[in-house]
Amino acid sequence: MHSDILVKTESLRKHYEVRSRLLKKIVGYVKAVDGVDLDVRKGEALGLVGESGSGKSTLGLLLAKLIEPTSGRYFFKGMDVTWSSPRILRGKIRVVFQDPYSALNPRLKIKDSLIEPLTTLKYNDREALERASEYLKLVGLSREHLEVYPHMLSGGQRQRVIIARALITEPEFIVLDEPTSMLDVSTQAQILELLKNIKEEKEITYLFITHNLAVARYISDTIAIMFAGQIMEIGDKNAIFTKPLHPYTRNLLSAYPSPDPLKPWQPELPEDTGNTGKRNEQGCKYANRCMFRRDVCFRSTPELIEVEKDHRVRCHLYRL
Ligand SMILES: Nc1ncnc2c1ncn2[C@@H]1O[C@H](COP(=O)(O)OP(=O)(O)O)[C@@H](O)[C@H]1O
Ligand SMILES: [Mg+2]
Repeated sequence: MHSDILVKTESLRKHYEVRSRLLKKIVGYVKAVDGVDLDVRKGEALGLVGESGSGKSTLGLLLAKLIEPTSGRYFFKGMDVTWSSPRILRGKIRVVFQDPYSALNPRLKIKDSLIEPLTTLKYNDREALERASEYLKLVGLSREHLEVYPHMLSGGQRQRVIIARALITEPEFIVLDEPTSMLDVSTQAQILELLKNIKEEKEITYLFITHNLAVARYISDTIAIMFAGQIMEIGDKNAIFTKPLHPYTRNLLSAYPSPDPLKPWQPELPEDTGNTGKRNEQGCKYANRCMFRRDVCFRSTPELIEVEKDHRVRCHLYRL
């Protein structure tokens, strides 16, 4: 394993049981994450893109160690952490979720929310408070915000506090799950710029989950396209945008009008999400929706293969 790989997964899976209403018998599984092999380099921003229900959040929760996988392996800095307690990683992996309104305890002053993650680490009260104001400054807020309550802040300010709270333990890896999608467009642009600057300054590694291609293009170095619990294509951001390989990626990009990352724009993602039986389970999961499908697509599952340097695709079209 290369030493510059921070996060690595092998055949990572998370299957949820589906039980019948009456007898509570297991009638099937939702394969939320279904065999993900991923390498994230230190300092890289990996944009994880895909329609709703494709398993992005579940993969984020797995990598943040907030849930346990059904199978597969997860390595952090070369260490197998698949089954280890999240406490081992003490502040090294942090998350920022979508909703800035529910993420902060309304009864706690901002300073108390900020220092809360430090209580399990070795900081005394004075040091913790110093760090809190230092990190508030880093995210563009000031000391005065230490003493206020969340309801006194705007959505954008709250998301800044949440980012500061994620950063305060000096994490090496942050999972950001649609962190700007509930903010208005101009606030979204400011927060994205902040996140980009912080990443460069602190050399943090990001998993940045978004269904918005424009946002992914702005923030990411590498982009992974997820569908039905699998990575369908992964590569350098520019390769993905200039030379998309997978039919699903091309489909997503065909709805992508503007290269301006901060223009308001949401892709029109196709229907057929979630765990309906419409998805092809035998071969390629995208086969039912694919314009280029052939018989083989229903028989065998394509592997994620490297077609060009650092550009991989899971599609029979590219099989040698
Ligand atoms: N706790 C859960 N129990 C059962 N099914 C779940 C659970 N969490 C997610 N799922 C299902 O897993 C699939 C992927 O969900 P999710 O990871 O939230 O996708 P995304 O973030 O891409 O929208 C969906 O079909 C969703 O309904
Ligand atoms: Mg999600």
